[in-house]
Amino acid sequence: MNSFTAVPSRAESVPRDFPEHSKIARDKSRWSRATPLRGIHSVATPITVLGQGPMGRALTQAFLTAGHPTTVWNRTAAKAAGSVAAGAILADSPGAAVEAAELVVVNVIDYDAVEAIVRPVATQLKGRTLVNLVADTPCRARRLAGWAEENGIDYLDGAIMVPTTAVGTPESLIFYAGDERLYQAHKPALDALGGGTYVGADPGRAASMDVPLLDMFFHGYAGLAHGFALAKAEGIDPADLAPYAKMITGLVPQFVEEHVRRMQEQDYGDDLSSIRSMAAGLSHIADTAEENRLDAGSVRAVQAILRRAIEAGRGDDSLGKLTDLFGEVTA
Ligand SMILES: NC(=O)c1ccc[n+]([C@@H]2O[C@H](COP(=O)([O-])OP(=O)(O)OC[C@H]3O[C@@H](n4cnc5c(N)ncnc54)[C@H](OP(=O)(O)O)[C@@H]3O)[C@@H](O)[C@H]2O)c1
Repeated sequence: MNSFTAVPSRAESVPRDFPEHSKIARDKSRWSRATPLRGIHSVATPITVLGQGPMGRALTQAFLTAGHPTTVWNRTAAKAAGSVAAGAILADSPGAAVEAAELVVVNVIDYDAVEAIVRPVATQLKGRTLVNLVADTPCRARRLAGWAEENGIDYLDGAIMVPTTAVGTPESLIFYAGDERLYQAHKPALDALGGGTYVGADPGRAASMDVPLLDMFFHGYAGLAHGFALAKAEGIDPADLAPYAKMITGLVPQFVEEHVRRMQEQDYGDDLSSIRSMAAGLSHIADTAEENRLDAGSVRAVQAILRRAIEAGRGDDSLGKLTDLFGEVTA
């Protein structure tokens, strides 16, 4: 397929039992409304994907695999070549891409790019559904949802929690936030991506889930990389350390539920590992890093937080207390 004539017109693609579609976003009570709409999409639903980075291409492939006629646009058209070869239609402008489908998915590098693409085509987006799968802050998600509402655009915010290779597979996980009726209405089409998980009516909530999980991942990954830097500096072959690295990083998930329990019950005593003990361990890590002329800034930052807790007489508290400590911002 290489022409827009293959895509049903808007009138043809609007499901007949989708009443009040364009009104949903303007209904102030919508965030508390829980009644899902009936499945409204035919098996093949025209979809537009704005953005053809690695993730945009993976989303496109998943939609095509599920049999959805998919139109794509990318700032650099050449990057859509693989999608076009797989059956997608290449639009020559965001406006043309938007007009090709009721359901428009945007996936580019950040919200600045999203806004640069969608704001100029607000008129074409009016009455359609924009699903923004770009990661950013909860505040920005809510602001964009507000802009969409002002412009009569139905809006869902999403956060993709898996790498490109998992999209469209049982390992996929994508958080969606916004009007639940709107989510249910488009779920049959979005199910092509796999792992759809509705997290709430607040359009910032997918980002509110995404950010702490990314925090855990990136902080964890930074620790992994820092540990290997230390190993190299100490003359340890990273390959020799690898099996033990897997063992020790594999311990962290075992603490998740216990950490949550301690936070919920505010049970910070009687632990096997205290704040004082962690502070001593971090001190050895930071000292060894500095002896090897490595950056110890991230380790020292955590150490400083623990030191404040020790000075406040909480050195014997369990590591369950750490989450509270991050919330105690000093003047
Ligand atoms: N890749 C992953 O494994 C993964 C996993 C989970 C979530 N995500 C999320 O998915 C989103 C996209 O990630 P990605 O990996 O596909 O690649 P990316 O490098 O984050 O984004 C590349 C895309 O952004 C476009 N872009 C950048 N600046 C632009 C601008 N000013 N105007 C218009 N388009 C612009 C690029 O267009 P050009 O081709 O023209 O440069 C390209 O389509 C991000 O929010 C990311 O956090 C990605």
